[in-house]
Amino acid sequence: MRFTTLVAALPALASAQQDTFGQYQAQFQNFLGNFGSYIPNPGRHDPVAAAEAKAGAMKLNILTLDNWKQTLYEPVKEGQTEPEEWWILTTGNNKTCFGHCDRVEQAFNETAAKFALQTNAPHMGMLNCDDQPILCNVWSAGVGWLWSFQMLPEPAPIEIYKKRLNLTTVTSDDLVALQGKHKTEFKLEESFWHPFNGKAAELGLSVPLAYLLWGFNLLPSWAFMLIISFFSRSMMWVLVPGPRRNEAGNNNNNSG
Ligand SMILES: *[C@@H]1O[C@H](CO)[C@@H](O)[C@H](O)[C@H]1NC(C)=O
Ligand SMILES: *[C@@H]1O[C@H](CO)[C@@H](O)[C@H](O)[C@H]1NC(C)=O
Ligand SMILES: *[C@@H]1O[C@H](CO)[C@@H](O)[C@H](O)[C@H]1NC(C)=O
Repeated sequence: MRFTTLVAALPALASAQQDTFGQYQAQFQNFLGNFGSYIPNPGRHDPVAAAEAKAGAMKLNILTLDNWKQTLYEPVKEGQTEPEEWWILTTGNNKTCFGHCDRVEQAFNETAAKFALQTNAPHMGMLNCDDQPILCNVWSAGVGWLWSFQMLPEPAPIEIYKKRLNLTTVTSDDLVALQGKHKTEFKLEESFWHPFNGKAAELGLSVPLAYLLWGFNLLPSWAFMLIISFFSRSMMWVLVPGPRRNEAGNNNNNSG
């Protein structure tokens, strides 16, 4: 119904004068503005708590979509040939980890406090997928993984190793014991979603795709039904001039 009214309105729109068009445009923008207020905020970040964590005894960096790259490159010096290691824990709260990430977070926090007293220990960072769903999509990161980033000055490729942690048993001693073992205990990240060198990042697609996936996750199932029914109806329209196809098919048969 709505589509037909739109079609009927099109010629009117086309012949409308500039100022009328401007009015439509303003209305449309107004609509978008209102619509935008229904979309949940895709990123949450507490800069004060993050600054405290970074300056505190754990020297823990909280990653966001805006700061992750800069943060990881921060300790890297020009001309450095030995990689600077970062450990990032992907964690979550009720939404992405169903409340099961407390133990691993605590173990990681304790490890960070221990590493902060050592020289040459990995730099420590945390990515919370409840707070930063887009960044988790950009990395295609699940919760409860330890990521080891081997940072070299730009534009060198970055090696990343990942290890899934056991959320029910992990302790900070387990984590400390993993230090320097990324090549043996972790697996090398080589996917399409590799945050630095994956195809998605190279094509500049990782952020738009991350938003797209996030958007699909927000859609309630009835919206999916609506989309599917819309597409199946469109397919019906394509299939309606079927007899002609049959004719063509018959012709082929006759000539064959
Ligand atoms: C997470 O879920 C638990 C139990 O359902 C609830 O007690 C707690 O308040 C929730 N936490 C947040 C941050 O929503
Ligand atoms: C770990 O430290 C971070 C940063 O201070 C904090 O937000 C988080 O709640 C801590 N997690 C646990 C389980 O203590
Ligand atoms: C975690 O460790 C416990 C005890 O060793 C084991 O029973 C459980 O299957 C492990 N979970 C995963 C996900 O590996």
